[in-house]
Amino acid sequence: MDAKYWDAKYETDEYVYTKLVNRFVKEYCEPLTPGTAMDVAGGEGRNTVWLAQQGWRVENIDFSQKALDKCLSFAEEEGVAGFVDTNCSSALDFEPNETPVDLAVIAYLQINQADLKTAIKRVASNIKPGGHLLGVWHSRDNLEQSFGGPRDTEVLPNPELLAEYLAGEGFEVLDCRNRDGQIQTREGLKPSVTAVMFAKNIIEILG
Ligand SMILES: C[S@@+](CC[C@H](N)C(=O)[O-])C[C@H]1O[C@@H](n2cnc3c(N)ncnc32)[C@H](O)[C@@H]1O
Repeated sequence: MDAKYWDAKYETDEYVYTKLVNRFVKEYCEPLTPGTAMDVAGGEGRNTVWLAQQGWRVENIDFSQKALDKCLSFAEEEGVAGFVDTNCSSALDFEPNETPVDLAVIAYLQINQADLKTAIKRVASNIKPGGHLLGVWHSRDNLEQSFGGPRDTEVLPNPELLAEYLAGEGFEVLDCRNRDGQIQTREGLKPSVTAVMFAKNIIEILG
């Protein structure tokens, strides 16, 4: 699905993915000390704005300009526009406005697995030593076991694949597993199996 598809999807006053922070983003990021962050494929900004409200300076990198416009309106409504930057780029080859950052979030970037590996490596290369990467996806195991999400295996990673994509980038994987949970839909919360990867850049600063 290309940027035009996403622009068309977001062409509504409603927030397609709600304005509520994803529960895993809240769970893993809340204990961290705010600094600089990137929200890759951040969409309409539910996680970007929440991070900004926690004191993070956040760049939402998404290839849908419509999503980014909605993210900025939301940030303005919430009084945190000064903490939010947008960057209309592909997750595969973006050039961040600020790098390296203390935290990168990737939530529901459901793209083919070769591209996802490229995106994860690119994101990882823009995280500071000591910084964190949090990724959240509909799991491949969601297909058999639960509700919602894409039905195409090719865009559904599982924890094993995610850890493999990050291998060799100098990260310690702190948590990488399927989590039983719920997703926010316009009809309310529904059960889902979510693949979550939380990792820390452990490359020493050479000096
Ligand atoms: C399911 S939405 C998730 C949005 C947001 N992370 C959230 O959790 O609400 C997926 C987002 O990925 C973006 N996206 C998909 N493929 C992309 C790519 N190759 N580069 C950048 N953004 C992409 C879409 O524009 C869309 O905003």
